[in-house]
Amino acid sequence: SSPCFISGLGLHLPRTLVTNSDLEHIVDTSDEWIRSRTGIATRHFAQADEPCSVLAYNAACKALENAGMTAQELTHIFVGTFSGDYNLPSTACLLQDMLGLKGIPAFDLAAACSGFLYCLETARAYTCMYPEAKILIVGSEVTTSRLNFEDRTTCVLFGDGAGAAIVTGQANPGSVKVIDAMLKADGSVGSLLTVHGGGSACKPVLGQTIGPEYFVEMNGRDVFKHAVRCMVEISANLLEKNGLTTDDIDLIIPHQANIRIIEAIGKKLNVDSEKIYVNVDRIGNTSAASIPIALTEAVASGRIQPGMKVLLTAFGGGFTWASALLQF
Ligand code: ACO
Repeated sequence: SSPCFISGLGLHLPRTLVTNSDLEHIVDTSDEWIRSRTGIATRHFAQADEPCSVLAYNAACKALENAGMTAQELTHIFVGTFSGDYNLPSTACLLQDMLGLKGIPAFDLAAACSGFLYCLETARAYTCMYPEAKILIVGSEVTTSRLNFEDRTTCVLFGDGAGAAIVTGQANPGSVKVIDAMLKADGSVGSLLTVHGGGSACKPVLGQTIGPEYFVEMNGRDVFKHAVRCMVEISANLLEKNGLTTDDIDLIIPHQANIRIIEAIGKKLNVDSEKIYVNVDRIGNTSAASIPIALTEAVASGRIQPGMKVLLTAFGGGFTWASALLQF
């Protein structure tokens, strides 16, 4: 396949930082439980004026600036999210309008926490069809709009945020090569992690109040096992397909769901913890935004240097999972 590049990165976090002690006032939980089971200490919660499109817009502007591009140069917009502003219109169309654009194709992509890597691989395919393409891909989530704050087993795990990248068919100064990527899905176990309410199989009824089915429902233990197995397998497969081993990789950026999942992946792939990027302690699980936020941070902080090979891997509802290999 022809090469494809990431030419700019950006992230945006909503302004409100929420500590575990803050959550102690909302549900029967403790800082100690949350830290020891998940590694999470803080996360950001969006306010009413910070819906998914606004977070996406802020991340997109930073990615454009980082790429040295204007919005007018964009050819496509893909947004990975499970917590868009509305069912209709799509967040990608809202974002297109906010960027002052008209006409270029824009769509949302539903792959939950794997949404950003699904967007990346879709953009890679588009750059084969349209080598001149300059595609804005965004993972943006207001997970708190889909969280049941009466369910302590889920509401302490997630946070809000957005990360964006500009994917181009042609290299620019400082652009990062996307070596390869791989996507997987298994719908037979999709019922382990759901938001059913509002869908056509779970219709809202006028005058009836909504129930817990409108929020994230999860079998945490089973999700944990699948997440570790799938991210390890797909990472190993992608490396093998490209004639590489984990020794060739300078940094792994796994989906930031839970420190215990991240540590289990490191152990099974036999990779030292210094080679695994972690920000789940500060940011929690931001679903589709998790990978682009972590990637943007790792580049901005100097953790990723030119010449490095970086492996991204994600897992989410569906189930969906994915990996991508980058050459800086
Ligand atoms: N505070 C205090 N106690 C709690 C809380 C909480 N927030 N949540 C659960 N508990 C209690 C439970 O009620 C249970 O009590 P019991 O034994 O009296 O019944 C006890 O803690 C243990 O619960 P477990 O579910 O066994 O705890 P576990 O060690 O499995 O950890 C967790 C739960 C953190 C959810 C874990 O299963 C997990 O991380 N799973 C993966 C979840 C995840 O990351 N999903 C997202 C990945 S995919 C995506 O990003 C969309």
